[in-house]
Amino acid sequence: AIERTFSMIKPDATRRNLTGAIVKMLEEGGLRVVASKRVWMSKRDAEGFYAVHKERPFFGELVEGMSSGPTVVQVLEGENAIARNRELMGATNPTQAADGTIRKVHALSIGENSVHGSDAPETAKEEIAYWFSELEIVG
Ligand code: CMP
Repeated sequence: AIERTFSMIKPDATRRNLTGAIVKMLEEGGLRVVASKRVWMSKRDAEGFYAVHKERPFFGELVEGMSSGPTVVQVLEGENAIARNRELMGATNPTQAADGTIRKVHALSIGENSVHGSDAPETAKEEIAYWFSELEIVG
């Protein structure tokens, strides 16, 4: 089925001028960008977005990293977009990511792993709503 998922190009990647390179990999992988904006998250934005991880030992580092520079937040659309995006990203830890995936090619470490993507339909819905109004999504 045609789905929508939420995607972020994280500060480690925007800092290295990789926005276009990453979008190209998503588009060539069959996904379409139907909403996109560049934001500099406050710590509060990052804490709210990643609230599910607040008890994790890496939470502080995650919030610092996500508020350290610009992020490109996007809605992607396509056939099985949620799973497809996760395939294109590769494993969270770039040392475990498959060849040719975005994280294998571009990520620096598990914390600086260049991209985020929703893991399930419910989280996709929540994450899209955290950053976008329906009017900003143009399919
Ligand atoms: P992401 O898909 O954005 O979801 C949560 C993020 O936490 C994850 O990608 C990683 O960037 C980060 N993360 C997960 N585990 C660790 C870890 N052990 N150390 C630092 N950051 C981590």
